Amino acid sequence: MNESLSSRRAFLKTTAVAAGTALATGAVSHVHAAGSDTIKVGLIGCGGRGRGAADDCTKSAPNVKLVAMGDVFEDRLKDARTKLKGILNDRFDVKDDKCFSGLDAYKQVIDSGVDLVCLCTPPGFRPPMLEYAVQKNKHIFTEKPVAVDGPGARKCLEIYEEANKKKLCIVAGTQRRHQTGYLETMKRIHDGAIGEITSGRCYWVQGPIWVYKREEKWTDLEYQLRNWYYYVWLCGDHIVEQHVHNLDVINWATQSHPVRAFGLGGRSERTGPEFGHIFDHFAIDYEYPSGMHLTSMSRQNSNRNLRSNTTEHVTGTKGACQFDRYNIRPYKGLGEAWKFGGKDNAPYVQEHTDLIEHIRTGKHINELKTVTEGTMTAILGRMAAYTGDVVEWDQALNSQENTMPSKLAWDMSLPTPSVAIPGRTKLT
Ligand SMILES: NC(=O)c1ccc[n+]([C@@H]2O[C@H](COP(=O)([O-])OP(=O)(O)OC[C@H]3O[C@@H](n4cnc5c(N)ncnc54)[C@H](O)[C@@H]3O)[C@@H](O)[C@H]2O)c1
Repeated sequence: MNESLSSRRAFLKTTAVAAGTALATGAVSHVHAAGSDTIKVGLIGCGGRGRGAADDCTKSAPNVKLVAMGDVFEDRLKDARTKLKGILNDRFDVKDDKCFSGLDAYKQVIDSGVDLVCLCTPPGFRPPMLEYAVQKNKHIFTEKPVAVDGPGARKCLEIYEEANKKKLCIVAGTQRRHQTGYLETMKRIHDGAIGEITSGRCYWVQGPIWVYKREEKWTDLEYQLRNWYYYVWLCGDHIVEQHVHNLDVINWATQSHPVRAFGLGGRSERTGPEFGHIFDHFAIDYEYPSGMHLTSMSRQNSNRNLRSNTTEHVTGTKGACQFDRYNIRPYKGLGEAWKFGGKDNAPYVQEHTDLIEHIRTGKHINELKTVTEGTMTAILGRMAAYTGDVVEWDQALNSQENTMPSKLAWDMSLPTPSVAIPGRTKLT
């Protein structure tokens, strides 16, 4: 049983490593000058995105190799190892003794002599994994979201500060921030192309997502881990898991985060026990410090004929912008329309190129704060919809609701929490 994951309270109390310890011991890796040394990468969480991240990371710059892998499940680990060996070829160098499974696997990968770790598990585990990686002076690529509740988000903000002190580089899987079209559009918005932003809209409205039938041999914990999407302690609900991307774009545009939210949501279609206790739709009204409001909608529905919509828009005093279309449309007489016409890049690779370049040149990059704020924005929306009440940012961030069970054991009883009912569910 894994120490950090087995006791949430213990993890929340863990004292950060004293500032400067790593620098004093020379443990932080700044030795990869000019691409001359191989950067050794460890992958934690070997599912779909983990395999993608391992490929993207190792092809993003010369001399980057995958050398260690870990997954809570051995079958996932073995399957990913076989697949990645075939895809990565000479970028793959994962020996038998650098493959780890179980709840401790992440510590073993981090302690296996790697320079950089890719954290690609379900997001509920991100705070303890980020914390251990920073304690052990590793550079990090972390998938989004980075938390599922207030305590997890607070922990991430502490880890952000600690990584800054140690000059550790952290890049997050909010890949739009590394996408040429978004960057060019955002630059113009920040330069005032549409004036002051007065409202926003963003959506992650999509079709169905995978769901696993329970196998008889699976314990409660194994079932929830394999079907992680449907449990808030692992996934945060789909508003957190997916919609964080679009909410992050609006935070980026406004260079802020909401101060409060009010919203609706529920389960209209996914009502069976195989869907755990998450909602299948949300509609949230966010208020930002400037007074502007953001309308956000997210939905997962099995009817593929329903229109999907994963877009981000802002309107300002001088015009409007649709980020995902890279266009700026000033009002009549207030400027020229603009649309990004350049060559777009591959953002899933670029985020790793940027990370590796910062590691090798000794420059510093740390995206943990922005991705935590994007994550917290989504958590705030979930809390507003679950409770049916207006929820303030500070109230959500300072919430004492630890969604992770206080102890994890393979044979534990882990009942599915009740589905939230607005008006009855309270914020703690
Ligand atoms: N940036 C993007 O566009 C993007 C796209 C897809 C997924 N993601 C993110 O990547 C993460 C993983 O998603 P996925 O689609 O790969 O899911 P997945 O289910 O395919 O993979 C998750 C893997 O993590 C493993 N795992 C679970 N708990 C673990 C633990 N405690 N220790 C080690 N391994 C553990 C699982 O066994 C599984 O193999 C999610 O946070 C998701 O939001 C990001």
